[in-house]
Amino acid sequence: MTANSVAVLDWLAGTGTDLTVSSCDPNTADPLVVSRLRAAGVRVSTDESDLESLVRERPELVFDTGGDLTAALVERGCPPLAAVESTSTGLWRLDQLERLPMPVLEWARIPLKEKVEHRFHVAAGVWSAITWLTGLSIEGRRVLVVGYGEVGKGVAERAHRMGALVTVAEPDPSRALDARLRGHETVPSATAAAHTAEIVVTATGRPGAVHADCLERLPEGAILANAGHSPREIDLDHLRRGGPGRPVRPGIVEYRLAGRALFVLGGASPVNLAAGTTFGDDLWDLFSGVTALSCDWLLNGDWSELPAGIHPVPPHMQHRIARSYLARPKRPAHVGVIEEQDPGPGDGHVLQELVGPQCRDYQQNHSLAHSTLAPGGVITVHHHERTEETYVVLSGQLTVSLDGVDHLVSAGGYVAIPSRVRHGAVAGAQGARLLAVSTPPWQAEDHHEAPC
Ligand SMILES: NC(=O)c1ccc[n+]([C@@H]2O[C@H](COP(=O)([O-])OP(=O)(O)OC[C@H]3O[C@@H](n4cnc5c(N)ncnc54)[C@H](O)[C@@H]3O)[C@@H](O)[C@H]2O)c1
Repeated sequence: MTANSVAVLDWLAGTGTDLTVSSCDPNTADPLVVSRLRAAGVRVSTDESDLESLVRERPELVFDTGGDLTAALVERGCPPLAAVESTSTGLWRLDQLERLPMPVLEWARIPLKEKVEHRFHVAAGVWSAITWLTGLSIEGRRVLVVGYGEVGKGVAERAHRMGALVTVAEPDPSRALDARLRGHETVPSATAAAHTAEIVVTATGRPGAVHADCLERLPEGAILANAGHSPREIDLDHLRRGGPGRPVRPGIVEYRLAGRALFVLGGASPVNLAAGTTFGDDLWDLFSGVTALSCDWLLNGDWSELPAGIHPVPPHMQHRIARSYLARPKRPAHVGVIEEQDPGPGDGHVLQELVGPQCRDYQQNHSLAHSTLAPGGVITVHHHERTEETYVVLSGQLTVSLDGVDHLVSAGGYVAIPSRVRHGAVAGAQGARLLAVSTPPWQAEDHHEAPC
């Protein structure tokens, strides 16, 4: 029940479905979303321990995040007609059941989720949340990532790119090898690397991934955050033995363990969702897309022909979502007029940036400038390491020097200037006007007056 889910929840509430929405982790239920749903007449539960009352409702169709409700319904002998499961934790939970008597659509292990959402969205959100909550930079810090599924992989890769020294704790040797080949230190369990960890991020989906032994080894000041589904990945009960914890900033609680301070972010709930705001909203659209299509699958009875068991979201649904994400809205076009400019004194050259990333007439991949040169006006010799340019002379005459060789170019002529060619120009007796097209767009950092 985060702000990003509102669009889908509003739509569901409007379908006339007899709808109950329950949060799987109270820390991730945004109070504004809860009150909005209640105002729309939806039954809402934010209490994790409310599972029994949800089971008593005997839902016919279940959209689950974590598998708790679906598993409880199956175990109590009242399975739903069909279900959707969105997390690997939930699939793991369903795998533990003796029998799954109905079709379940899963989108925890589909490429769109694993390779895109887990890898990029979650990782971006997790590190934004950690830096936003703590105000700390990540560069040079020792980060321990616990679990190297796609979520852990994304979290580790992003930390590495941000300049952290990353160690991965992963018991699965093939996944650990993958982590090693991507340049991370690896250990089989969090305990083995705990003594040097400054920031620990759990991404296993399993309770107790950072258990008492591991906590006991963490150094003074270590920061703990969770990216996995279960808020029990970090053993908070053990931390609370030293006292209830002291809130030090919003979303940060300090615990004392054997005289050392340890800081837990977001109540050990998924930090990207529990930090009071959701991070990586634009990528989250993918999540909304799959949520909407799989709820549609439930409501339309698309499951009725399917055998019992787990079925991945079919490729056509994934493609539809990916295509809609790729189809970006068009940017507005602009029509403009070049205003006459007086080149004035100095080098007798006035330059107007007409089009480009920094201009009102925004274009991302090229820039266009208009130059007016007084008689004898000068474009100082320079070069660009990356940008290539074409000058089009609109009026007058220009002597353009290219790597020290002069070329006379009159109105209607042009000069194509590759990157790294030293170039400059001097206007003739009538002055000159020219257009300069640059790609990649002109940038001050790539304008070099000193020789190559
Ligand atoms: N925060 C979010 O927004 C968000 C989004 C999507 C998924 N998730 C959750 O993130 C978690 C991880 O997802 P995933 O797809 O990478 O899962 P996964 O099951 O593919 O990977 C988990 C990894 O953790 C390892 N592991 C298990 N116990 C461990 C332990 N004690 N110590 C170290 N490693 C251990 C496993 O070997 C596995 O490689 C799940 O709970 C998933 O539901 C969170």
